[in-house]
Amino acid sequence: MSSWDKREDMLVHEQDPYNAEPPVSALAGHPVTAVDTFYSRNHGPVPDLDPTSWRLRVDGLVEHPVELSLADLQARFVERTLPVTLQCAGNRRAGLIAVRDIPGEDPWQGGATSTATWTGVALGDVLDAAGLLEEAQHVCFQAPDVSHIPDPPEAYGASVPVGKATSPEVLLAWAMNGRALTPVHGAPVRLVVPGWIGARSVKWLQHVTASAESFPGHFQATAYRLLPPAADPGTADAAAGPSLGPVALNCEILAPGDGQTRPAGPVTVTGYAYAGEDRTVERVDVSADRGVTWVQARVDAPDGPWTWQHWRIDVDLPPGTTELTARAWDPTGALQPQQPEDLWNPKGYVNNSWARVRVTAT
Ligand code: MTE
Repeated sequence: MSSWDKREDMLVHEQDPYNAEPPVSALAGHPVTAVDTFYSRNHGPVPDLDPTSWRLRVDGLVEHPVELSLADLQARFVERTLPVTLQCAGNRRAGLIAVRDIPGEDPWQGGATSTATWTGVALGDVLDAAGLLEEAQHVCFQAPDVSHIPDPPEAYGASVPVGKATSPEVLLAWAMNGRALTPVHGAPVRLVVPGWIGARSVKWLQHVTASAESFPGHFQATAYRLLPPAADPGTADAAAGPSLGPVALNCEILAPGDGQTRPAGPVTVTGYAYAGEDRTVERVDVSADRGVTWVQARVDAPDGPWTWQHWRIDVDLPPGTTELTARAWDPTGALQPQQPEDLWNPKGYVNNSWARVRVTAT
């Protein structure tokens, strides 16, 4: 095992803070991602919190602020287990960097997306116990990990609007795939916001505040905004582009891998597709002739409303190099954008352009 109990072949973009994704081939064939394979995205050092002395403070626009231990959470609220896909907003950024450089941002491939079964309690149940007041519009989440990305350095935090925060799928989770969270995934308790960009699923959660405003910190107010191509992310103000929430329709080819060689003839092409929120993927098309003709892949049913869907199709590879392309549709008839040029943005978020790999058949 390499650092943080991850598999040896993780693509480590940064050791400190630890930022790593599995090779996409490791996601193939696994609707649930093993913990040692699950990507990890961190903005600062991984805190080492003692689960017995850990407390969650819930305050702000509530009738009675509360402080809860892990044992309180487990004893006082109904336990829920949900399969949920997390996707980083920077997933597939490498495809945008290939269009134009994005200084200071990691070149994530399609492995910054993973799925686990998460166990915890509904945040909404805890907010009910505290007596959420009507004036609350947002719920803010704070963690102790201090990031040196903002100047001056800042502890990580985020918020989600109260409507999402009180939806039953939003969890305060202490377990992942049936085992206690590991430090790198937010032990002892993290937030899981299904269907939304991973940045909102705050790890090492310590403080929940109901507020009239969204969280004012860097990672909510400044980062994770979709800026127009000409904007300077260093100076763009909050109004320059929308704050990202629900995940956009996306797909990736998991096998064969980009640059691989295969015998000419039939090859099974597999991948994932994910439509964000509780939407399902309606259809996945695959082309072996750069989009002139398309065949429809077999798409698995999701493992619940909050997960990706895997898909597969057999394609005939002629001798030589073939570019395989995949694209997904959602139930509204929306289709992914064709080219990364169509959506290049200065922070390199939401690359949901068509998936492509080049395979050489001999
Ligand atoms: N929570 C804290 N406290 N600090 C962080 O740096 N990163 C966020 C989110 N929660 C982060 C955090 C981002 S951008 C993502 S994509 C997910 O955690 C990644 O979760 P994982 O490391 O468990 O995969």
